[in-house]
Amino acid sequence: MSRIHEALKRAEEAGPSAWRPSEPTPLGIVGAGGVAGAHRILSSPIRAEMPMAGRCLGLEELRHRCIKPGWKLNPDYDVFSTKQSSALCAEQFRTLRSRLDRLRKKSAIRTLLVTSTLPGEGKTFVALNLALAIARQHEKRALLIDADLRASRLHVRLGAPSAPGLSDYLSGHADEFSILQADPKVELFLVPAGRPAPNPSELLANGMLKGFIDKIGPIFDWVIVDAPPVLAVADARIIAEFCDGIMVVVRAGQAGRDLVKTTLQEFRGNNLLGVVLNGSDQDASCASYSYYAGFELDRK
Ligand SMILES: Nc1ncnc2c1ncn2[C@@H]1O[C@H](COP(=O)(O)OP(=O)(O)OP(=O)(O)O)[C@@H](O)[C@H]1O
Ligand SMILES: [Mg+2]
Repeated sequence: MSRIHEALKRAEEAGPSAWRPSEPTPLGIVGAGGVAGAHRILSSPIRAEMPMAGRCLGLEELRHRCIKPGWKLNPDYDVFSTKQSSALCAEQFRTLRSRLDRLRKKSAIRTLLVTSTLPGEGKTFVALNLALAIARQHEKRALLIDADLRASRLHVRLGAPSAPGLSDYLSGHADEFSILQADPKVELFLVPAGRPAPNPSELLANGMLKGFIDKIGPIFDWVIVDAPPVLAVADARIIAEFCDGIMVVVRAGQAGRDLVKTTLQEFRGNNLLGVVLNGSDQDASCASYSYYAGFELDRK
């Protein structure tokens, strides 16, 4: 764990950065569904109509039946946008991606949980850009699942409909296809969080998310699950039970070292992969994001 400790030390020493995203601008990716809007809610067939329980899905079936609403990815959250200041950040996400690929040569890992100690440490930022880094590779597919049913943001960053989504599926109000969104130009798929639910922990623990991942996961190279922070609620711990690996995002200058250690301890001996140090001012050329992908792998 010594390299993780070094990363934590760097996080403590670095101050938080002052990144100020501007308004969303269109990316020019519009699918069959028409113009994108950040808070659209689409109608959803209920699960009872779907005769597919227990079987794995094929890619073509999935492509054909999933929703293609047209996304407007906010370039301020996309380190692969053409903004000059993002170049180094993009490189750091490629590094993170290749570290994960290397790790996978040693053990079977497909489903990644992204969590943190406290709110606002950059989980959604890291989950989204890692998924983009994967999907930009030739013939690689990534699925992003917004399992933060309390403060969902992925749909906002992608300019995608918020529902139907995971909460609708877990409560039996939507089928697999109506919660899966895709865009024809990127090999990235999204399950948004869905409509607000009064009982997120119970929904996440009811076994259906595991079933969904078992069924859908094999189609993708990576499944990235954006989760709530660990200290606030039990959700991340629940989801961790059926993810292959856990990444803990640590925002520079935010959670103290002891708190982060508590979080790491929580997953130690389970399936903790490592720490992503976010927002360190290590490199001045990374002006907008000041992102540092200090990713340490430690699977003991
Ligand atoms: N490296 C960074 N530099 C500057 N700002 C950042 C960085 N990473 C994230 N942010 C900003 O910090 C805020 C929180 O980021 P994000 O939503 O990704 O965190 P989170 O951990 O998912 O939060 P929550 O716990 O609410 O889900 C956002 O406004 C985001 O734009
Ligand atoms: Mg988030």
